[in-house]
Amino acid sequence: MSNRESTPKFPDSYLGNNSLDYDSSIWMERNQKKTTLLCLQYLYDERLDNLEKPDFLKDDPFFIVDLGCGTGFSTEILLERGFRVVGVDVLHDMLSKVKTKKNHMNNQNNLELILADINFIPLRSSSINHAISISAYNFITHRAKSVRDKTKIANNTAKNLYKLLKPNGRIIIEFYPKDDQELEMFTSSFNTNGFNGFVIKQNPNQKSGQTFLLLKKR
Ligand SMILES: C[S@@+](CC[C@H](N)C(=O)[O-])C[C@H]1O[C@@H](n2cnc3c(N)ncnc32)[C@H](O)[C@@H]1O
Repeated sequence: MSNRESTPKFPDSYLGNNSLDYDSSIWMERNQKKTTLLCLQYLYDERLDNLEKPDFLKDDPFFIVDLGCGTGFSTEILLERGFRVVGVDVLHDMLSKVKTKKNHMNNQNNLELILADINFIPLRSSSINHAISISAYNFITHRAKSVRDKTKIANNTAKNLYKLLKPNGRIIIEFYPKDDQELEMFTSSFNTNGFNGFVIKQNPNQKSGQTFLLLKKR
């Protein structure tokens, strides 16, 4: 979501006509898809350790959950790459656009959509191989009134994601924490709840800068 003129506000930026504007923005589509491809490279980053890249032509397709899937730009790339995708979003206005576009997507039978909060995803434990989240994870704490509340939500979410993932599960997050303290709060929520990982900042001093969290289940 780099190079954006104004910082999006949750939920207003994604409701009603704003969800239509979001979905019809060619710039947004290009940007989300490009970032998703980068996250897929990070999914098998050897700094997390050597996890062999699956070959979906011979291996069973992996389940991946797209956390905050919006109108499905990232989801579309994941389907094209052969994953079985569970798209999760808390806003009907955004998720309904994926439902409309689904018929034109490759491998559409490999897609399930769930209207739910990332904080608690109603799926069985150990049912998902990996998770990805593009430009959404910073919103999970939007209701919190204090740093303490934020930390609690971030910890509970990390715990729930830990349960959801199978052994060797990985999570790649591209997001917009508001400052280094908030980034540290999100990072330690994962470190203290069963994940190893690290942060990558790309062009940190530029408006187009992006922050990635690369995580693997211990
Ligand atoms: C920038 S948009 C979506 C980006 C998405 N990668 C795409 O390709 O369209 C961010 C999305 O995160 C969703 N979101 C924010 N907080 C959420 C939460 N707690 N649970 C689920 N979805 C959430 C919003 O509803 C919005 O659709």
